[in-house]
Formats: sequence, structure tokens, C-alpha cells
Amino acid sequence: MLKEEKYQQILKAATEIVKGETNQIANLANLTALIHREMGFWWTGFYIVNGKELILGPFQGPVACTRIGFGKGVCGTAWKEKKTIIVPDVHLFPGHIACSSESNSEIVVPVFDQQANVKMVLDVDSTQYNCFDQTDANYLEKITALITSPA
Ligand code: SME
Repeated sequence: MLKEEKYQQILKAATEIVKGETNQIANLANLTALIHREMGFWWTGFYIVNGKELILGPFQGPVACTRIGFGKGVCGTAWKEKKTIIVPDVHLFPGHIACSSESNSEIVVPVFDQQANVKMVLDVDSTQYNCFDQTDANYLEKITALITSPA
């Protein structure tokens, strides 16, 4: 199945998940499980804004670092710049925070509230180099937008 088709199915399932439950932690947990299992990524999870740092939220995959400062690593940079960051080779990203030595590429998608403040980021890691492209960015942005503005 094409990546785009898989993401369309995930988006549909994600819409149902969020429609059926108002608790945010429950939704974040199920969204990580959905994306992680269907796409076969190495690590999929949320880091939630808490004051001047991000704190680890629901995730799937190996144990990860728990706190990331504003502007630090790929996650803190996506928060600071308020935009999705695709990293084809994490070893070349200045300040990359290596939670797992198996991770080779990464995408981080900020999640905004209605006032366009970043509330959390979705971080996805792959053991493959150059795993993520604009298709991943487009769909992960659509999926995460459901969290703060359910369809
Ligand atoms: N690599 C991330 C840290 C989180 S782990 O990948 C799960 C970063 O540089 O922000």
C-alpha cells in the first residue's frame, strides 16, 4: 500500500478516535499507538509544553528522555520555530538529542491551540535514514490538528 493510502486510513481512524473521547491523554495515547503500529516507526510520541520545557507524554517505543528545553534538540526547535521539522539524518542536526542510538531520521510536528500557541509536539523517529518527506508532514499535521480542533 502506498504511504499516502496508509495515512488516509490512519486519518480516518484518528478522526473516529478523537470524536469518541474528550480526554486528551487518552486520545494522545491512542493516536501514538495508531500511527506507530500502522506506519512501523521506531518511536512515536508527544512532548507536552510545560512552562519553559517540553515534558514526555504518551508514546510508543523505547524509553525516552523526559524533558527538553525551549529551542533544544529537534523538538525544542520545532516548538521555537512553530513549524514542522524534517531531519533526514539526525547525526547531522546540530543539538539533536539522541534518546535512542537506533534512530537515524526524525520528524517533529508542532500542535497548536486556537490562539496559535504551541501546546505540544509530535515526535516520530525512524531507524532508516531519510524516512520522512512532505507526505508525512502533511498527514501528521492533519492528524495532530484533530487534537485541538476535533473534526
Ligand atoms: N530527538 C529528539 C528527542 C526526543 S527522542 O527522539 C524521542 C530531539 O532532538 O528533540
